[in-house]
Amino acid sequence: MSAPSGSAPSRHWDQVYDAKGAQQVSWFQPQPTVSLELIDGLLDRTDPVIDVGGGASPLVDRLLDRGHTDLTVLDVSAHALQLAQRRLGDRAQQVHWATADLLQWRPERRYMLWHDRAVFHFLTTPDEQARYRELATTSITPGGYLIIATFAADGPEQCSGLPVARHRPDDLAEQLGAAFTTLTTRREHHHTPTGAEQPFTWLLARRTDDTGQS
Ligand SMILES: C[S@@+](CC[C@H](N)C(=O)[O-])C[C@H]1O[C@@H](n2cnc3c(N)ncnc32)[C@H](O)[C@@H]1O
Repeated sequence: MSAPSGSAPSRHWDQVYDAKGAQQVSWFQPQPTVSLELIDGLLDRTDPVIDVGGGASPLVDRLLDRGHTDLTVLDVSAHALQLAQRRLGDRAQQVHWATADLLQWRPERRYMLWHDRAVFHFLTTPDEQARYRELATTSITPGGYLIIATFAADGPEQCSGLPVARHRPDDLAEQLGAAFTTLTTRREHHHTPTGAEQPFTWLLARRTDDTGQS
């Protein structure tokens, strides 16, 4: 696993989590409601699931509650993952944790569900977006699913001091490429801990090609 300890992205995100804690970051949500609504009915409990850029999100807690047994949370910030691990206590041992920069990461297996809330939108160049597309495609089992949420086209232009690329559902689908078929899209108004409203675009897609690429 690539270890980003000390890299510029890991320092940046560690500082963000250190300054605010898990519950005061702008993307904090007490319950991952939209994620769970989209996941409902898609998976068997033993299907491998990865939350990329999962940070300190409570999604992993809720999936453990539902009996999922093969969960991975990947994030460039070791501090964010520690916050999640502390919250989970002994249950943290049931989860695979990966401290890695997604763009440098080399997956060693495939997943039935790739979940990304508010990470892809930090990739603002065509090269970064192409790398993400390649990673998602090769990391997801043919027939598996991808859930992605980004700031909507009328959402904020920055998050945590970094520029973001905002997306409409159709351009998000285009970004994912021909290997994926969109199953549904959503618009969500996220309320930050300080009361600001942030529109998000959500997309659930299925990997429908079967090229056997690895
Ligand atoms: C806006 S937060 C969202 C966190 C989480 N998905 C949630 O919904 O609570 C973005 C997360 O992505 C992580 N991140 C940013 N760039 C990353 C990268 N290149 N590789 C892995 N994680 C990254 C950050 O550390 C942070 O935890």
